[in-house]
Amino acid sequence: MDKDTLVEVQDLKTYFFTDEGVVKAVDGVDFSIKKGKTLCVVGESGCGKSITARSIMRLIDPPGRIVEGSIKYVNGEGVEIDLTALSPKGQEIRKIRGMEISMIFQEPMSSLSPVHTIGEQIRESIRLHLGLSKEAAKERTIEVLKEVGIPKAEERYDNYPFQLSGGMRQRVMIAMALACKSRLLIADEPTTALDVTTQANILDLIQGLQKEYEMSVMFITHDLGVVAEIADDAVVMYLGKVVERGPVDAIFHDPKHPYLISLLRSIPQLTAGKMERLDSIRGMVPHPFNRPSGCPFHPRCDRAIKGRCDAAAPPRVILGPGREVSCFLYEEGRS
Ligand SMILES: Nc1ncnc2c1ncn2[C@@H]1O[C@H](COP(=O)(O)OP(=O)(O)OP(=O)(O)O)[C@@H](O)[C@H]1O
Ligand SMILES: [Mg+2]
Repeated sequence: MDKDTLVEVQDLKTYFFTDEGVVKAVDGVDFSIKKGKTLCVVGESGCGKSITARSIMRLIDPPGRIVEGSIKYVNGEGVEIDLTALSPKGQEIRKIRGMEISMIFQEPMSSLSPVHTIGEQIRESIRLHLGLSKEAAKERTIEVLKEVGIPKAEERYDNYPFQLSGGMRQRVMIAMALACKSRLLIADEPTTALDVTTQANILDLIQGLQKEYEMSVMFITHDLGVVAEIADDAVVMYLGKVVERGPVDAIFHDPKHPYLISLLRSIPQLTAGKMERLDSIRGMVPHPFNRPSGCPFHPRCDRAIKGRCDAAAPPRVILGPGREVSCFLYEEGRS
């Protein structure tokens, strides 16, 4: 593994074996997260972003399971570990989870205990991970609550999650993840429920911490504006596959995959003083049981080649270091 790389995901497949059939939520995904850098993962709802993140954390519950691939991670001591080889309930992954890799979940309630105050929860997590005394950990908790923009942090410390609004709970989650200064922060749509100002504050906060602690960030979002602002690299997913990835400049200025090109066109633009959505992608994301043959995007793609894109999986075309596209249009001999 490259010395600048913290996590390398190779051919990851995570399937759900339901009574109705197999959902191939993540179906052969490759990407890497660099040390101290931000990787953004984008794609429409249901394309497998959260399941990819949860696979790294080894938090996939039955009937789901990682069926193939590897997730190589270089730990704090510089040792390379394949996270897929660890027992999901074992000590080793538990030590990494929270301590080295922390995650802000899409549903904040799923990771807050309803029976403890938010202050206690963050304080205990800080004590466990940073080894501070109770008093010092409380001080740090109040500090971090303030940092994520929670007013009257000293009073909020004694609140239970149910006493807070959704946006406040989201901030508590962010505070909890940030308080422990992990080496990798996975943030799954952490700011979607928040107003624009808080969203901007939180992005600043994450970026500040990242500089200070050389933290790597995997940031999942629908919002290409956020990607433009914070990403070093980006991965574009569609129906459990990576369709394109690369440095953020290339993703915005030289997009290749028709799916990415359509996504970029559907960003609302300010035209003649009013916000306009220029173009939206035709059709809908198909149900996971009805995955199209060949390239999963072909039924919605204006440039699909009959007898080709519907017939076989598209080739992976390497365009540069860390930059690739999976599409027949870029096969050798075409451009
Ligand atoms: N427990 C489960 N059982 C069966 N299928 C599941 C389960 N969890 C997720 N899936 C399926 O896996 C696919 C990927 O889901 P995932 O939550 O990763 O999407 P996402 O990209 O995060 O979407 P969103 O933007 O809406 O959060 C979806 O088709 C989803 O229905
Ligand atoms: Mg999700």
